[in-house]
This record gives sequence, C-alpha cells and structure tokens, in this order.
Amino acid sequence: MPILEVNNLKKSFDGDSILKGISFDMEKGQTLSILGSSGSGKTTLLRCLNFLEMADDGRIKVNGETLFDGMKTSFSENELRDKRRHFGMVFQQFNLFPQYTALENVTLAPRLANPSKDKIDIERESRMLLTKMGLPDKLNHYPHQLSGGQQQRVAIARALALKPDILCFDEPTSALDPELTGEVLKVIKELALQHTTMIIVTHEIPFARDVSDQIIFLDRGVIAEKGTPSQVIDSPTNERTQKFLANY
Ligand SMILES: Nc1ncnc2c1ncn2[C@@H]1O[C@H](COP(=O)(O)OP(=O)(O)OP(=O)(O)O)[C@@H](O)[C@H]1O
Ligand SMILES: [Mg+2]
Repeated sequence: MPILEVNNLKKSFDGDSILKGISFDMEKGQTLSILGSSGSGKTTLLRCLNFLEMADDGRIKVNGETLFDGMKTSFSENELRDKRRHFGMVFQQFNLFPQYTALENVTLAPRLANPSKDKIDIERESRMLLTKMGLPDKLNHYPHQLSGGQQQRVAIARALALKPDILCFDEPTSALDPELTGEVLKVIKELALQHTTMIIVTHEIPFARDVSDQIIFLDRGVIAEKGTPSQVIDSPTNERTQKFLANY
C-alpha cells in the first residue's frame, strides 16, 4: 500500500485555478522531488497536503487513512492537528524560535504533543537528532549564533522530532549560499539513504537526480511529467519540461 495517495487534488485562489487535479502515489521510504517553474503551484501543493491550505476537491490518503475527501472542507483545530501530524515541514526560511536554543527548538513540539512523555527521553532523542544533523556541539546555541545552514539543520531535526510519516521540504536551500547549501543537501541525502520518506520541492536539479526515486514536474498546476530521475531529467518528453531543464 502506498504511504501517500493524492487524487485529483484541486485548489483555486480567488477563482484562479492553481492546482488543476494533481494525482500521484508514493511508497514508504521513497524520496519524491517536485520541480517546476515559479508559480507552478509547488508550495501550494505542499501546503494543501499539510492542511496549511484547504484544498477545494480531491483526495489525500496517508497509510490508507483518508485525511481529505473533498466532501468535508472544514475541520476543528484538533482534527487539523491530527492530520498535520503525518507531515513534517521544513521551509525555505528556517523559522526557528529565536528565544530558544537549538535543543529547545527541537524538544518544544514533542513536549507539547506528548505531555505525559518523560522530558528526559524527549531530550535524549532530540540530542540524537541534532547529533545526526552534525550539530552535537551546538545544542545550547541560539539561532542567531548559528549559520543559515546550521539553522536549517536544526529545523530538519525539529521536523523529525515529531516522527512524521512524510517529511516535506520547500526549497530548503534557496536562502543559503553554495557552501551552506552543500552541508544541508548532505544531511537530506543521508536521510534518503536511510529511507526516510520525503517530498522535496527544489531547484537543485543535480541533487534531485541524485537522491530521488521519483520526480514530478509541475507546470501551471498540472503534472506535466512524472517518472524516475533519468526519465524526467535526462529524457523529458514534455516540451515545457525540456524548456525548464534547458535553463540549468
Ligand atoms: N494565499 C494565496 N492567495 C492567492 N494566491 C495565492 C496564494 N498562495 C499562492 N497563490 C498563487 O498561486 C500560484 C502558485 O503559487 P506557489 O507559491 O504554489 O508557486 P511555487 O511553484 O511554489 O512558486 P515558487 O517556485 O516561486 O516558490 C501563484 O500564482 C501564487 O500567486
Ligand atoms: Mg514555492
């Protein structure tokens, strides 16, 4: 059974159709990258999956459980929290809490989500995650004491701390210079090698080719092309995909 099934997902803003019926599946442990030009709907798609936006129509299933079916489009805060729990989000701007240390940024969400869980266990797991992100010596640093790449790795640890089924990235390196980009891509690649289920919106084409099991090329709200990296990147059949890739 696929871990994620998206069927005919649609979203309009002010009568403007932004997602025009998006359908795809992904298997547990796979990495899916989403490419596409600016305004094609990549962020909107991630936001609809994560219920930061409410889709207008279509279906979203995680592990066979229907999270959205197009019939009901209004949910209580508790229902939304349960639905969002399936997805971890890492954004372009790291959005760490400036008043908390790296460790506190990671422990905060699991503490709120599991008030009965032992604080020491949460802290141990958070330390492990930050160590995995290559930051064992930065636990007590505040965001302003960290480079952009380090802050983004704290944000990844924070997203992993809630043990999401699917970790989503929206252009995780576009606010970083090339050197810091490399260190963040390295940890994402490591996660892919460990079969973390991930959806990555990125403009880093060689990276997407390297880490992805599947690639989707989104064009003006529709999936113009979908397949393995070699199909989509090396031999695109869609004219818009060819044009997009010719610029890289
Ligand atoms: N909340 C909103 N209200 C109105 N229009 C929106 C809203 N969010 C997105 N849009 C519009 O939807 C379209 C797709 O935006 P989206 O952010 O999904 O594109 P994108 O593919 O992520 O682009 P980029 O590569 O620049 O990040 C754009 O035309 C945008 O203006
Ligand atoms: Mg975007």
